[in-house]
Amino acid sequence: MKFPICPRFLLLVSALAVSPPQSLRQAADSAGVLVGTAVRPSLLSESAYAATLAREFNMVEPEDALKWWVIRQNRDSFDFQPADEIVRFAQAHKMKVRGHCLVWDHDHPDWLAHGHFTPPQLSQLLHEHIDRVMKHYAGQVFAWDVVNEAMDEHGKLRDSIWYNQPGIGFAGQGTTYLEQVFRWAHDADPRALLFFNEAEGETLNRKSDAIYEMLKDFKHRGVPIHGVGLQLHLPGPELDSAALAANIARLTALGLQVHITELDVSLPVSPPASPPIGSAGHPVHDDDLLHQAQVYRAVVHACLQNPGCTAIQTWGFTDKYSWIGSHSHGTRGRALLFDQAYQPKPAYDAVLQELSTGWRPAK
Ligand code: XIL
Repeated sequence: MKFPICPRFLLLVSALAVSPPQSLRQAADSAGVLVGTAVRPSLLSESAYAATLAREFNMVEPEDALKWWVIRQNRDSFDFQPADEIVRFAQAHKMKVRGHCLVWDHDHPDWLAHGHFTPPQLSQLLHEHIDRVMKHYAGQVFAWDVVNEAMDEHGKLRDSIWYNQPGIGFAGQGTTYLEQVFRWAHDADPRALLFFNEAEGETLNRKSDAIYEMLKDFKHRGVPIHGVGLQLHLPGPELDSAALAANIARLTALGLQVHITELDVSLPVSPPASPPIGSAGHPVHDDDLLHQAQVYRAVVHACLQNPGCTAIQTWGFTDKYSWIGSHSHGTRGRALLFDQAYQPKPAYDAVLQELSTGWRPAK
């Protein structure tokens, strides 16, 4: 028996089929890219924070909860509880988790920073740390920033406790200590994707050249590394997006994935009399927000152009809680996609539109 099909029903079906995505994550799922954000476990109990996070993103990264000063307050114990909370949230909302970070010369607990350890002791400590943390999250954290910010603005290796002060045993031997930590990371969780994450080397400059040369060498010699994280903390509306695209292209040509890892676009704001932490000061002009939106759009566009650019992540998502306020002593702010009341900004609309219509060449 045949049933007559009502033309209005057909119209409804086709309208649904082409209805625009309602969230960043819906658009990103269709575009085949991850859209993520850095998160703080203490905020997951705020309903607007949790609801926005779950609705808009398909990936999260603990902003601080996996750093040494959180996990290793004591030498002999590991506190996984804060990061576990984020992982549980992610699993409940079908989000991926990126890990950040295992080797960084910042935010160390005092016992480590002032412990006067010898290179063999530091080597043992770091190896144990990578092993314990990665094994705890094996199968739950799919990608790790194994190394964070190892180079200075000229592309030279930074002096650090892990490199040469006194280092883990490879002081003065260039990138050998980095090679060593990637090998430890791969042994700890052979299925995890391992990233080198950096600031200031996102477009074409001396630093990005140095990163490129190091990664090329690592790939040629079979060092286990799968990707490079481009932080993209942008202080204002200037971005050479062609240079960003060119840098992404040369990195992916090495067989590496690129993740945009810490995107924010901060604006100058006048500080309030006594800025609360995370405060962004007085309102900025509409024009500034439109320029900011263009920068966000350009970054998403540059990533989507290249199938090897597989994730776009912002460093927080609401202006209510952004590291920029305290980092700039209240002189900059308004850097993220949602305002302090969780309302989407022009930058949000630009990212959503770009993800929804952005051209993605076939893999
Ligand atoms: C920042 C966090 O956002 C702050 O909460 C913390 O106090 C300091 O670290 N590059 C990085 C991040 O790789 O880990 C930093 O995060 C921001 C700069």
